[in-house]
Amino acid sequence: MRSFAGRDILSLKGFERNEFMHLFEIADRVEPIARGRQTSDLLAHKIMVTAFYQPSTRTRLAHESAMNRLGGRVNGFSDAKMTRAGDFYQESIKDTVHMLEFYGDVIVMRHFQQGAPHEAAKWASIPVINGGDGWGEHPTQVLTDLYTITKEMGSVDGKSILAIGDHRMRTMHSLGYALSQFDAEMVILAPEDMSPLPEFLAELDEMGTNYRIVDHVNDAIEDADVIYMEPVVQPDYTLSRDDVPEDYSMTPPEYQVTAEVMKKAKSSSIVLHSLPRMDELLEEVDHTRHARYWEEAYNGVVMRMALLTSVLGSWE
Ligand code: CP
Repeated sequence: MRSFAGRDILSLKGFERNEFMHLFEIADRVEPIARGRQTSDLLAHKIMVTAFYQPSTRTRLAHESAMNRLGGRVNGFSDAKMTRAGDFYQESIKDTVHMLEFYGDVIVMRHFQQGAPHEAAKWASIPVINGGDGWGEHPTQVLTDLYTITKEMGSVDGKSILAIGDHRMRTMHSLGYALSQFDAEMVILAPEDMSPLPEFLAELDEMGTNYRIVDHVNDAIEDADVIYMEPVVQPDYTLSRDDVPEDYSMTPPEYQVTAEVMKKAKSSSIVLHSLPRMDELLEEVDHTRHARYWEEAYNGVVMRMALLTSVLGSWE
């Protein structure tokens, strides 16, 4: 297995099965620290820099919480407008990263441009973790999700994963790449204008991901072990909450998961959603036996603890 020490985590393309298993094992090892709401000194002398050019609740704060639990320190920005990249100078990623590498030992970056963390990694002498890059990928989220499936169901192998949502989204890309390393089926459900791009499907074919495409949640819900959700309504970031028209976030019923829909699902099936949600996943599902998105959110801290200890070399 390739070493994680000093490694950039940019994509799940090319991630090997034993590397997933290794991270799951490390996550199990550090999990009691999070569960006990304790801190350790595993990363006592390390600093994580967050470079978030795009809004985030979970990804940034889960990484920060992970670093704090491990005794490390955190600095960074969550609004590029407060940096010289967001003002008149429009400072480049190259120049910004040449600064950030003096301020810490690992950089976690979210950016609206696909490939921005890859560009950062070219110039940084410290590891760069992709916290979501435009339509590109969201590797730490999908590592969290596969870890959650492993914890809740024993294994990702043998599972039928019904992935509902906008399949142009970064999370769906990382999921498709990751599943090439498991004996699992990806069942794709998306509105026509949010279908996976042909070049992405070609990559899945090449990598050997087992997938099929369906048109309605009812076509696959009975066989699904995991219902994996993303929104199908993309927010208009130019509008404030108050200006959003009332009918803006209406998810068509064929892509919606409700308590009624879940009555047709296997009793053992689980629902994951990386959140935030709109009306594709109704709150009434929170009260069913299937909901696991809060556990998923908790595992987001645990998996980031595993990643940070690994790339910062605590286990070598
Ligand atoms: N799931 C996820 O990436 O959430 P945030 O946008 O809040 O980080």
